[in-house]
Amino acid sequence: MLTGQFGNASSIHHFGQTAKQKLESARRDLAALLQCHPTEIVWTSGGTESNNLAIFGIVGEGQHVVTTAIEHPAVLEPCSRLDVTVVPVGASCIVDPDDVRKAIRPGKTALVSVMHVNNETGVIQPLDEIAKVAHAAGALLHVDGVQAVGKIAVDATVADLYSVSGHKLYAPKGIGALYVRKGVKLQPRTFGGHQERDRRPGTENVAGAVALGRAARMIFDQGLPSPELRDRLERGVLERVPFASVNCAGSPRVPNTSNIRFEGIEGEPMVIALDLKGFAVSSGAACSSGAVEPSHVLTAMGLSKEDARSCLRISLGRSNTEAQVDALIEATAQAAHHLHRLAPVHV
Ligand SMILES: Cc1ncc(COP(=O)(O)O)c(C=O)c1O
Repeated sequence: MLTGQFGNASSIHHFGQTAKQKLESARRDLAALLQCHPTEIVWTSGGTESNNLAIFGIVGEGQHVVTTAIEHPAVLEPCSRLDVTVVPVGASCIVDPDDVRKAIRPGKTALVSVMHVNNETGVIQPLDEIAKVAHAAGALLHVDGVQAVGKIAVDATVADLYSVSGHKLYAPKGIGALYVRKGVKLQPRTFGGHQERDRRPGTENVAGAVALGRAARMIFDQGLPSPELRDRLERGVLERVPFASVNCAGSPRVPNTSNIRFEGIEGEPMVIALDLKGFAVSSGAACSSGAVEPSHVLTAMGLSKEDARSCLRISLGRSNTEAQVDALIEATAQAAHHLHRLAPVHV
C-alpha cells in the first residue's frame, strides 16, 4: 500500500478509488471482528485518539463523566479535564456495576467510560451489567477495548463507543479505530474535510487501516489465543519461587497476560535481569516505564507502593512456544532468587 497503491482514498481517479476500496474492505474486516456495521467504524491514529474522541466527542459543557481508577492514562487524562467521578476497585481489579450506578448523576452524566480488559492485570470487566446501569440512567457507555480485541471475543455493540488500537493486535503503531453506534451523536474534535462521515477529518492512513483490517481477519480466521502457555508460566514460576504470587488469579482474565508479585524485591531490576537474557517484560504499565511511580492500577487495587513496585507484567504473544516459556520460568526464578538474597529486608 505504501509503494504500489498509494492513492488518496478521497480522490476520484483510479489510484484514489483503489485506495478507497482497500480502506472499505479493511473497515468491513474490522467490523466483522467487532460484530458491528462497517459504517460504525471510524479510523483514528490509535487507542489514545479513539478514547479522546469518544470522551470529548460525547461529554459536553456542564455534563459529567464516570470512569474507574484502573483506566489507562488515555482515559484518565481526558476525563480529568472534565467534571468526573472516578469509581474505585478492590483487590480483584473488577469494577462493581453498583459502584458505577452510585457514581452516575441522572440527567447530568453523559458518559460512563470503562475499559474492557485492564492492561496490567488482564482482568475482564463485567460490561453487560455496566452497560445496563449506564443506559438505565440515560448515559452512554464508552469502552476502551484496546487490550481485549484479539485476546477475547468482542461484541463492540455492548457499548455505544468502543476503542481499538492496531499495535495491540499485530498491526503497526499509529492506526486505531473507534466504533460509534449508529445514531450516537459524536462531536468531532478536529475540523477539516468530510472524511469518516464528518467524525474524524483528514486523509486516512490507508496503509495502516489495511494492516489493521488484515490483522482483524487473521484473528477471525485463526481464532483466539488459549491460556495454556500463560498457565504453564504461572505454574512454573509459583513452583520455583515460593515468595511469588499471581495478582488477580481468581478474576476472569485474558489468556495472555500475567501480573506476578515477587514479595520483598523490586520489579525494575527483575526487568533488567530478564532483558539481559532476551526477555521483554515490564514492571508497570509499559507507557510509564522509566517513571519511578508505582502502578496506579495496583495501588488502586489496594497494594502498598512497595508491593506494587515488586510486580512484573508478562504478556505472551501468538508466536511464543512452550520452550520459550520454560526458558522464561528458569530466567525469572534465577533472577528472583538472586535479587531476594540481595534485598535489604532479607539480610
Ligand atoms: C488499555 C489501553 N488503552 C489505551 C492505550 C493507548 O493506545 P495507543 O498506544 O494506541 O494510543 C493503551 C496502550 O498501551 C492501553 O493499554
